[in-house]
Amino acid sequence: LLADFRWGVPDLGAFPMPDWLWAVREAARRMPVAELDYGDPRGSAVLREVVAGYARRVRAAAADPEHIVICSGYAQGLSLTLSALARGGVRRVAYEDPGSPASVRAAAAAAGLEAVPVPVDEQGIDVGALTATGARAVVVTPAHQWPTGVVLGPERRLALIAWAAAHDAVVIEDDYDAEFRYDREPVGALQGLAADRVVSISTVSKSLAPALRIGWLLCPPALADALVSVKHISDRGSPVLDQLALARLIESGRFDRHLRRMRGTYAARRTALLAALAEHAPGVAVTGLAAGFHAVAHLRETADERGLVAAARARSVGLYGMSTCRTSRATAPPRLVLGFGNVGERAVTAGISAIGDLLRERG
Ligand SMILES: Cc1ncc(COP(=O)(O)O)c(C=O)c1O
Repeated sequence: LLADFRWGVPDLGAFPMPDWLWAVREAARRMPVAELDYGDPRGSAVLREVVAGYARRVRAAAADPEHIVICSGYAQGLSLTLSALARGGVRRVAYEDPGSPASVRAAAAAAGLEAVPVPVDEQGIDVGALTATGARAVVVTPAHQWPTGVVLGPERRLALIAWAAAHDAVVIEDDYDAEFRYDREPVGALQGLAADRVVSISTVSKSLAPALRIGWLLCPPALADALVSVKHISDRGSPVLDQLALARLIESGRFDRHLRRMRGTYAARRTALLAALAEHAPGVAVTGLAAGFHAVAHLRETADERGLVAAARARSVGLYGMSTCRTSRATAPPRLVLGFGNVGERAVTAGISAIGDLLRERG
């Protein structure tokens, strides 16, 4: 492909392999032999301490290492949380629509829960509609809504927490790409406002690479035992050497340095995308760019999302419609979700230029 605007992938070529290799060597060299045994299902005490510090410093979270569970990315974090909630008698979980309907619904079904969609508007999830579902858990992306890119408004943040308190409910916060905020400092994690009501799930899939399969859960104390138990049943704990390497990477400042570098890289790609769209398709409005590495292009109401995606594909440009993020799969209103994490600046420009006429005439 000339340019593939696939969402959800960071710049894989920029993975700090020398730093990672250094961190693995350091971790292995310092590792007490006892660490090779079955360990605490919550994960390495060293990494839990380090990510607690990181979550407090960078995400303004109320992180206590005792109530952290290291897991295999967001995907496992969500599954574990839903299983723990099901054990506690929760029957229905709500999720944002548009969002990730397929993955939330599959994870909910596996845990024996019913999953119900709740609409998202310009302020984030509609808390009134959430209340009407009768759900006792909700999966949200407050820092940068997936896929609309909306940042959950301050009043909505409070309303969501008030909802959870009033309904003995739990908010599952997917903190997937909060490290990358361009216009100002990232908004803090929702978990920092209500540590007893929010399960916050972080991942290194955006900050380092999806293949590492490392994430962590900040657990409300009341849910911690159930989460540790399901983690223990699931896999006895995540791979320890990788955890110790990640701890070294963060402690040494190399992780922060990587993030600083990537913020610059993504900001440049974002600028290139906006410039190319302004030049080749000035009629297409773009939103959702406050954070992360995807943008939403608003096509005109009569545009054929699928037709445009197919026509672009014939020119070797990978475009992706928002319809797959909707529970109904509706192609209206037509939108493109343009990922620019793993597309170089030149490819961004070349890709948009190659489909400029399509965007102008059919977009
Ligand atoms: C909304 C959202 N959350 C989280 C993730 C990360 O999942 P994981 O940590 O399992 O790789 C993704 C991956 O694309 C995502 O789209």
